[in-house]
Amino acid sequence: MRIDIISVLPELLESPLGHSIIKRAQTKGLVVINLHHLRDYSNDKHRTVDDYAFGPDAGMVLKVEPIFKAMSKLKEECEYDEVIYTSPDGEPLTQKLCNHLSTKKNILILCGHYKGVDHRVREHLVTREISIGDYVLSGGELAAAVIVDSIVRLVPGVLSDETSALTDSFQDDLLAPPVYTRPAEFNGWKVPEILLSGNFGEIAKWQEEQAYQRTKLLRPDLLKDE
Ligand code: ADE
Repeated sequence: MRIDIISVLPELLESPLGHSIIKRAQTKGLVVINLHHLRDYSNDKHRTVDDYAFGPDAGMVLKVEPIFKAMSKLKEECEYDEVIYTSPDGEPLTQKLCNHLSTKKNILILCGHYKGVDHRVREHLVTREISIGDYVLSGGELAAAVIVDSIVRLVPGVLSDETSALTDSFQDDLLAPPVYTRPAEFNGWKVPEILLSGNFGEIAKWQEEQAYQRTKLLRPDLLKDE
């Protein structure tokens, strides 16, 4: 998988994408992530990428030309399956959408910033707009990091069997069951007896029931199709 990210603050993405599982995915050659500075595609000597919005509202808007130039250059290198724009008014990022995106070969992400982006970018250059939640971040970089993290870990070979994504919360519309490790008793707080029994069949049944009960208690909306 190849992921290109266009941003006015690519430094913000370096750390979240440069550690742990996402770093390993890149080292193993399973994913290539390229960060691109939008200012490198500006046409003027001040490397301007934004301008005042038309109309009475205050705030700077990302200009269409540098974005078009950056995307055109990148599109010469590969064909993108998705061109994503990060925005609080986009479609909500769900595990289902992550699963879908993780099957793609080439993804381009444009990080929103300031007041937004010239709407012509959204009308003509973007194939999908994604929100990571109903709140407003100061820029799209953190949203892009969340999107990349949540899809890269699903790319085959990225997670070992031990950390398999199949047992994640949401993978079957249920929250994950609780997990414990040694010691079996600490401070008088005991690990549920069943987990020490060695009976994998019964343990699996207990985990299923726990997942269901936790979902019913904490996220009943996930069970609404029952
Ligand atoms: N940019 C600002 N807020 C955002 C959000 N909630 N999701 C995606 N991009 C954003």
